[in-house]
This record gives sequence, C-alpha cells and structure tokens, in this order.
Amino acid sequence: MGLFITFEGPEGSGKTTQIKKAGEYLRSRNISCILTEEPGGTELGYTLRQLLLNKSSINIVGKAELLLFAAARAQHVEEVILPALGGGAIVLCDRFADATIAYQGYGRGLNVEEIRWINDYSSRNLKPDRTLFFNLPVETGLNRAMGRIAQSAGSHTEDRFEGEELQFHRRVWEGYYTIIKDEPERFRIINAARDIEQVFNDVCYHLDAVLSIK
Ligand code: TMP
Repeated sequence: MGLFITFEGPEGSGKTTQIKKAGEYLRSRNISCILTEEPGGTELGYTLRQLLLNKSSINIVGKAELLLFAAARAQHVEEVILPALGGGAIVLCDRFADATIAYQGYGRGLNVEEIRWINDYSSRNLKPDRTLFFNLPVETGLNRAMGRIAQSAGSHTEDRFEGEELQFHRRVWEGYYTIIKDEPERFRIINAARDIEQVFNDVCYHLDAVLSIK
C-alpha cells in the first residue's frame, strides 16, 4: 500500500501551489507519486467540478451540493486513488472528505454526522494517512483569492465558494479546527501566511517525516 496525503485549508491558503511543489520534490527523489484534486481527478469529477465551482452555474441546494461532491469522490476513489495506493504510490490530494465536513457541514449547516456517513460510503472508508492543513486568517486568504480572480480578467470562473459571505468562511475555518481537535495525530498545521519557500520548507519536513513511516 502507498500513502494517502491530503492538503486542506481555507480559500487562498496556497495549498495548490504547495501540492505541485511537493510532487516535484518527491519525484526529484525518485518516489512514485500522483497529484490529484477534489472535486476532480476523473472525467466525471471534472464535469461535476464545473457545476459545483462555477458561480454562473445552475442553482444547487445544499443537500444536492453535498451529494455531488460525494459522487465525484466515489468515482475518484475507485478509479484513481485506490488503484494508485494499491500500486504503492504516494497519492497527494488537494482536498478530500474533511472539506465536505468543513464546507457543507459547518459552512452550509448540514448535519455533520450524516455527512460523515456519506463520506465513508463514497470513499469506501478511505482515510488519509496524513493531512497538511495550511492555516491563515480567513480574511487574508479571501483577499488573496479575490486578487487572483480579479487578475485573471474573467478567465477564472471557479469562484462560487469564494463569493460566499465572510461568516461562511469563518464557519468553515472553525469546522476544520474542530476536525483537527478530534484527530490531532493525523494533522500537521502549517503557517501559510508566510512566503512560498518558507511554507514549502515545512511541507518537505512533514513529507520526509511521513515517508519514513512507510
Ligand atoms: P479549490 O480546488 O480551489 O480548493 O476549490 C475547491 C472548492 O470546493 C473550495 O471552495 C472548497 C469546495 N469544496 C467543498 O465545498 N466540499 C468538498 O467536499 C470539496 C472537496 C471542496
């Protein structure tokens, strides 16, 4: 079995930049790894991603949103993640089931216990071996994310969640912290308010540590 490592954090935490650098770091050490993301990773996942993340998309109620994330995850786990882990690869995944608890549970206010059940069902009970949480103040992250959207002059259309009110993002952040408190051994918290290379040093440190247990 390989190792399943997930990257989580609020909007604008820089985890997507860091996961790419982490992949390069592992490959430079001849460690077999795949980089993937949620929602995404498969043809179905990317089709659902467009529906879920584009602001101009159709109206989606909370429960439907939850089930669409779960559908994307079921396909992703079966088609990509489990086969890669079975082949001994390190799987680096940009968001996973914790995001559903934080966003749909704490952010949208859906029942967290029901979400846990749906997460387990859609992921065949797959749990990350380690989760790196990129922490920064919600306002700082949103400013970063909004700046990126403004700079892209309309070409960045994945802004449905960034457009939610500040209180929503505060609840998401509190949700993540509740999960971390429940499972402190799985999480490593990284201060993401620093520059990219400083953050990346910590990512390498935590990757080295988790790889040594493989
Ligand atoms: P990101 O790839 O930029 O992190 O965008 C993914 C967005 O989708 C982000 O706003 C968080 C949201 N999301 C959920 O609301 N629930 C989920 O289960 C997942 C995986 C992501």
